[in-house]
Amino acid sequence: MQIITSIKQVRQIIKVERQKGNSIGLIPTMGNLHKGHMSLVEQIAPHANIIITSIFVNPLQFGENEDFGAYPKTLESDAKQLAAAGCHYVFAPNAQEMYPDGNKSKSLVSVAPLDNILCGKSRPGHLTGVATVVAKFFNIIMPDFAIFGLKDYQQFLVIKQMITDLCFPVEIIGAPIVRNDQGLALSSRNGYLSDEELEIAPRLNQILNIIKQSIIDGEKNYKEIENQTQLIINESG
Ligand code: PAF
Repeated sequence: MQIITSIKQVRQIIKVERQKGNSIGLIPTMGNLHKGHMSLVEQIAPHANIIITSIFVNPLQFGENEDFGAYPKTLESDAKQLAAAGCHYVFAPNAQEMYPDGNKSKSLVSVAPLDNILCGKSRPGHLTGVATVVAKFFNIIMPDFAIFGLKDYQQFLVIKQMITDLCFPVEIIGAPIVRNDQGLALSSRNGYLSDEELEIAPRLNQILNIIKQSIIDGEKNYKEIENQTQLIINESG
């Protein structure tokens, strides 16, 4: 497995792979990879001959008071895991390579109104930052397929909308959430949680499953369900 850091070189490599008749599958990540990411390698493999994983902590999708500086960077162990899983290339540019004018982009991809509701409401600019960097990766690598975890479901919908609106010739695959034995979705940011918080966090999924069951069982008072759920989530810590 080869690690590439420059846009020029990755373009050259992709060109050669295409000349050989290979199809390209892209796994966009911010690194600090876990079993959830490895499941993406497994799931994209039947679609593409060549798998390329991008590893880039994208400054554009972090708010001012968010964890950009603290986001774990573990390229060596990420590369080991990816090689073992059957990935062919890692594209790991630095911020200067992706944003030569500084950690900003003068051109932005905004997928309204999807990018400013729900998570986008509490993280203004986040989904625009995601859509912009993913568009850049699509333009650099020009993959046939790209895979995204359904854990970030709003992000998944934003990207699907973007490829429809902007006519990117990429097929998007949504990968099911991978959870630990307690039901907590795997995430690089779980590393921030204390032991106590790690015990509390799975309750969110348990509570959502209880609500789901009550709706399946015929409960229709959604406002009441919402109020009760907020109460339970708060009481659960
Ligand atoms: O989901 C992520 O890890 C990031 O938002 C992505 C899609 C790699 C863009 O930086």
